[in-house]
Amino acid sequence: MSASEDIQIASPSHDELQALALAELEACSTDESLEQWRIGYLGRSGKLTQVLRSVGSLPVEERKAAGAAANQIKTLLERSFEDRQEELLAQRRTGLAETERIDVTLPGRPVSVGRFHPSTQIVREICDAFASMGFQILEGPEVEWDRYNFELLNIPQDHPARDMWDTLWIDHVDDEGRRPMLLRTHTSPMQARVMESQEPPVRVIVPGKCYRYEATDATHESQFYQIEGLAVDEGITFAHLKGTLYEFARRIFGQERRIRFRCDYFPFVEPGVDMSIDCFNCQGDGHLKDGSGCRICKETGWIEIMGAGMVHPKVLAGVGYDPEKYTGFAFGMGPERIAMLKYGIDDIRLFYGNDIRFLRQF
Ligand code: PHE
Repeated sequence: MSASEDIQIASPSHDELQALALAELEACSTDESLEQWRIGYLGRSGKLTQVLRSVGSLPVEERKAAGAAANQIKTLLERSFEDRQEELLAQRRTGLAETERIDVTLPGRPVSVGRFHPSTQIVREICDAFASMGFQILEGPEVEWDRYNFELLNIPQDHPARDMWDTLWIDHVDDEGRRPMLLRTHTSPMQARVMESQEPPVRVIVPGKCYRYEATDATHESQFYQIEGLAVDEGITFAHLKGTLYEFARRIFGQERRIRFRCDYFPFVEPGVDMSIDCFNCQGDGHLKDGSGCRICKETGWIEIMGAGMVHPKVLAGVGYDPEKYTGFAFGMGPERIAMLKYGIDDIRLFYGNDIRFLRQF
């Protein structure tokens, strides 16, 4: 058997091959099947390639016609292949246009926007209240010298009043073997800093973070905010202190608030007081309408919200002010405590717990 006979027996006729190839091409619906088809017919050992190769082994007189016929099929299949490729691409594009269609009339997805931390919010609210009364807002360092945090505030070394502030000391020792640096335990050091750097009249409000060496519980944190206030001028009296703080209390806790001052001790003021507002929860009664005890004021009808007093003459003298000529008042409060009262938050640790479910409520 000659080689040509072998091929003719094993292979379908040219027409059959062409018909089969076109039918299979029509059935290709993916890039992969299309590629399989191309390899199967037009690839190096594809069916048509084999036919073309076999032409060489035909008797000379048959070669020309067979070659021409095979080439014709080749051109046809190549063109059909390209057409099919285009067709599939076009189909895919229309499909995409359908599945990826954008419905511009659909409502948008809600964008989650951040918000200010509740501490920041209450600090700003309080500062705004004082700013509108003519106070200037200032900030100061959180790492502070003993001199400002204590000494210039009439709290000398080894004075028992230092026990009022459990202090976090910076591990740095001076020539006298003392640790002069600390994390400020209150914002009061800014009283001394402000007076040292400017002449009266002074009217400042100082928000900022403070730190204490404290076992934390529902009402104590080792890190918290304070807001300090200071007004110094000729002729400032306790009446100015009362009027200013009364106005503040009404702005934050409501127009009907009453206030109460009681004696208290802070080394840097004289007289020193603590200020309370009448309880907004039970309207100062100590009990709710149903007769149950009020939890907010612990049945006393009053809520302590800050320490205050007239600036001690020693403090004025310490910063170079003439205590015979100038007087002033100062106050300090914890905004987290104010927020707890205002919003009924029962644990101060929530402020730094980073629980988004808590933070989102403000
Ligand atoms: N600094 C005081 C404290 O931390 C509060 C205070 C400030 C009291 C100003 C009087 C005057 O407790």
